[in-house]
Amino acid sequence: MTPKRALITGITGQDGMYLAELLLAKGYDVHGLVHGEHNPQADLVRRVIPGVRLLTGDLTDLPSLMRALTVSEPHEVYNLGAISFVQFSWENPLITTEVTAVGVLNLLEAIRMHCEGDVRRIRFFQASTSEMFGRVQESPQRETTYLAPRSPYGVAKVFGHQMTVNYRQKHGMHASSGILFNHESPRRGPEFVTRKVTRGVARIHLGLQDSLHLGNLDARRDWGFAGDYVHAMWLMLQQDEPDDYVVATGVSHSIRDLLDVAFARIGVHDWTPYVVEDAEFARTPEKNVLVGDATRAREVLGWEPTIDFAGLVNLMVDHDVAEQQGSAHEPPEGRGRPDPGA
Ligand code: GDD
Repeated sequence: MTPKRALITGITGQDGMYLAELLLAKGYDVHGLVHGEHNPQADLVRRVIPGVRLLTGDLTDLPSLMRALTVSEPHEVYNLGAISFVQFSWENPLITTEVTAVGVLNLLEAIRMHCEGDVRRIRFFQASTSEMFGRVQESPQRETTYLAPRSPYGVAKVFGHQMTVNYRQKHGMHASSGILFNHESPRRGPEFVTRKVTRGVARIHLGLQDSLHLGNLDARRDWGFAGDYVHAMWLMLQQDEPDDYVVATGVSHSIRDLLDVAFARIGVHDWTPYVVEDAEFARTPEKNVLVGDATRAREVLGWEPTIDFAGLVNLMVDHDVAEQQGSAHEPPEGRGRPDPGA
């Protein structure tokens, strides 16, 4: 049997890498879109997941997307590419909109044109986000919860989400959207709070750093494991009918909870001497509790998270201790500015 083929945008991010591994294990031919000529993250993907074929392209460049579709002839397209750091989007709202919002439209149009009237030939997944709920109107949040984004990133994601819904309804595309709550792993960029904490804790443990500067310690999120979330993405595209699904654990934790678990892993039960609340990292206003209701994903897809919050944080601390000692297998570092093309 001919293997299924998939095209992943955002292949250099944590989700792209986990998804590529999942699809390769299922026997897919996997193509990934990478932005820029000398993208250091592309070398990491080549090294860690040698089975992936990388193509250059950019979500803001429609001809490059058309070319990627022609070369890869995918059965499934996963759009994980975005500028995804919320704070960055406040400083760079236009480029965030071009990549994270208009980029989705470019890809949908590229697929529509490529399929020439047979739009069901390619199944499409859009990575939507809990940030679309912003000023939350109900808790927990579900697929029908009103969208009230509170950042340029959230606004851009709402555009991509609604465009996906519209292309499904108007053009009959098999286009699904996963409303993904925060999902983390040892591959998470160090600018995000979980990795910042686990990496900082590892460095404190090894005497390489003496304090950790954080923003609002009372902020709460619904954190899951990225490897579980890419499994939900794949399940969505295996359904006969496309739909939208919240992907979440249903449990909310504060940054203080995160600190409790991470420091306990290195045997520290009072972290207060190490943590500095720093206005530089505080976001305002931020009073909302993001927590997702993944009933639909559970009932329709049969999806369940496999790693709980403590398991996830411990996994990340252990990885970061090994990495800081120079013994980890895969350095997920060197991300710097979020990668707009991939
Ligand atoms: N990054 C960061 N750094 N966040 C901090 C810090 C800090 O020093 N201190 C407190 N926080 C709080 C933030 O204010 C926020 O409430 C929470 O930690 C999580 O922040 P991030 O880890 O940066 O993630 P995010 O929730 O803004 O967004 C992530 O998850 C979304 C939902 O899946 C990103 O991955 C988004 O792209 C994604 O859509």
